[in-house]
Amino acid sequence: MRKRIKQHRLLTISMSLAVALTANLDVMAETPDIGPLPPLKINQAKAELGKRLFFDTRLSGDSAISCASCHDPKYGFSTNKALSDGYPGNKHFRNAPTLINTSHKKVWMHDGRIGTNLNDVTRGMITEDYIMNMDMRIMQERLKQDAVYLDMFEKAGYGEPSNGKVRKAIPEYLKTLTSRGAPFDTGTMSESAKRGMALFTGKANCTACHNGPLFSDGSSHNTGVPENFDIFRDPFRHQAFIAYNMFMGNENYMNLKRDPGTHVQTHKADGSDMGKFMTPTLRELKYTAPYMHNGMLQTLEDVVEFYNNGGGTDSNKDTLLKPLHLIDSEKQELVAFLLALSGELLTTEKHVWTDAYPNEYEPIEDWRNVRN
Ligand code: HEC
Ligand code: HEC
Repeated sequence: MRKRIKQHRLLTISMSLAVALTANLDVMAETPDIGPLPPLKINQAKAELGKRLFFDTRLSGDSAISCASCHDPKYGFSTNKALSDGYPGNKHFRNAPTLINTSHKKVWMHDGRIGTNLNDVTRGMITEDYIMNMDMRIMQERLKQDAVYLDMFEKAGYGEPSNGKVRKAIPEYLKTLTSRGAPFDTGTMSESAKRGMALFTGKANCTACHNGPLFSDGSSHNTGVPENFDIFRDPFRHQAFIAYNMFMGNENYMNLKRDPGTHVQTHKADGSDMGKFMTPTLRELKYTAPYMHNGMLQTLEDVVEFYNNGGGTDSNKDTLLKPLHLIDSEKQELVAFLLALSGELLTTEKHVWTDAYPNEYEPIEDWRNVRN
């Protein structure tokens, strides 16, 4: 049943056929169909405010960086660096994920440690000392000194600028960042991509973990991605890594030489949960290289090769991963299918929002150099 080819156009027909022909409906529920994302209801005034905040460097402690410094529209609102930058004086120890379609998620971060809502993720990003290192009380005062913000908060129905409203407005903007025009959604996939889809849902069994409209089961697995040792070589990254592990209550954090992943949630004494990471969405991969939680795989060809070898080497590796024995043309078809899950590049200009306010806070090309 897992291997059933699932095309959303045929969803209704195949569902009723499945109901008629199979007794085992539980298995179906395990692997939700791949298909288009549902539309979201958006409040335009709130989203416009959220957009201005997203690109505003005044939201970081020393006004050096904005959300867009690490979630850059050019790279599908992610970074093209294996490991993300951090607040000046720090660097991060993980790849910055895409924010496109993030509103559709239920659990956030590579280790799934935030399972409430995007307001909480936004607070974490602003206040975390190795991310934006901002005291939200200072942020609130800064915003109150800007006449444009006073106007925008008022128009959004929020009254005066406040921390709580910032944490609402930014997620409203994030809702506008959704896939647009992906060949998979528009029914314009090439023949090669269609064959890739048959492999994806069939022989290669990618849908075991990458399923539903986001192509993610919202769960975590150990795929054996190799460690990125830049975390431990670079003291700027290592200090952020230590701070994070100390805060998350990870054992032996001073000597830890691997990213524990979802161990932060389960803390199994035998360590069998070490190195599990959340299954990411496969939408918009065209823009978001390099891949995996630590950017260790450079291209989609590398990713397909990785899975063709049955994943990496790890004693906790998921038993679903087995060598696939794909021939070269099949590997190319799988890549073609993955690329068909990407739509047009979302630039700030192309947003459907009619900008009532000019955007003075375009991302700076390389903000690290600007500061030095
Ligand atoms: C200094 C770099 C940096 C800045 C600035 C930054 N982020 Fe992030 N962001 C990251 C990294 C790295 C992660 C992944 C962290 C992890 O998994 O532990 C992340 C994760 C996220 C996620 C979770 C995505 C997912 O799919 O799980 C969201 C949402 C997010 N950031 C939004 C924001 C917003 C909104 C801002 C501005 C208020 C912001 N970020 C500022 C680096 C940054
Ligand atoms: C056992 C579950 C599982 C299976 C099966 C699986 N994946 Fe994954 N996939 C994951 C997890 C977990 C990650 C994240 C790993 C990490 O961050 O270290 C991932 C990451 C990826 C990424 C990187 C995405 C990004 O934004 O970094 C791609 C691409 C991908 N998988 C494609 C595939 C393809 C193609 C197949 C089938 C050949 C497949 N996966 C099979 C669980 C799985």
